Amino acid sequence: MVRHYAPTPVPREVVERIVATVRRAPSAGYSQGQRLLVVTDPERRAEVARVMSDSGWTAPEDREPWLESAPVHVFVCIREDDYHERYRQEDKLVQTGGEEIDWPVPFWFVDAGAALMMLLLAAIDEGLAAGLTGVEGGAADELRSRFGIPDDVTVVALVTIGVPAPDPGWSQVTSRRTQPRRAPEEVVRWECW
Ligand SMILES: Cc1cc2nc3c(=O)[nH]c(=O)nc-3n(C[C@H](O)[C@H](O)[C@H](O)COP(=O)(O)O)c2cc1C
Repeated sequence: MVRHYAPTPVPREVVERIVATVRRAPSAGYSQGQRLLVVTDPERRAEVARVMSDSGWTAPEDREPWLESAPVHVFVCIREDDYHERYRQEDKLVQTGGEEIDWPVPFWFVDAGAALMMLLLAAIDEGLAAGLTGVEGGAADELRSRFGIPDDVTVVALVTIGVPAPDPGWSQVTSRRTQPRRAPEEVVRWECW
């Protein structure tokens, strides 16, 4: 995660390549419920930063400006109804005896996670850096009205993309300089838990 960016613009075709990768992300039943809202216009980006800070997201003074410095903001969104519609199709109902599946976990949020990971990796592949923040409910509501996000689309996260600048203040508080990563044995079990 990088939470501070140089004022270098990212060419439109690079952004297009990054966001196009989301079409190759996995999705439950190939529901393809992922949706992205890309914001690059400076005034609109300032609006994003303002909405996020009004709802409690504010970079303290001892940290680098994050949202304010990022030349590309991408909201990762999900349309849950795509999943219900897909899993009520004939081939799915045959597998489940005529009822929509009893969802083991909300697959739409799983797919939103896969989509945002595609963005993070694609940004790095382009020689750029990326950051990720959740979007609090109040901010999501305001973004919905200001950016025309439909009612059936849920905002899950905001990915920032740009040329990296040093962010020592942020990385102090976001663990990588202060907390070790969990040991591989703690995270990955082999053959039997
Ligand atoms: C669902 C989700 C929400 C996150 N929200 C925030 C956030 O609000 N603010 C933030 O600084 N980082 C956020 N992160 C990023 C994590 O802090 C980050 O992945 C973790 O610290 C690892 O950072 P590293 O990749 O730099 O090691 C979020 C990550 C996920 C997966």
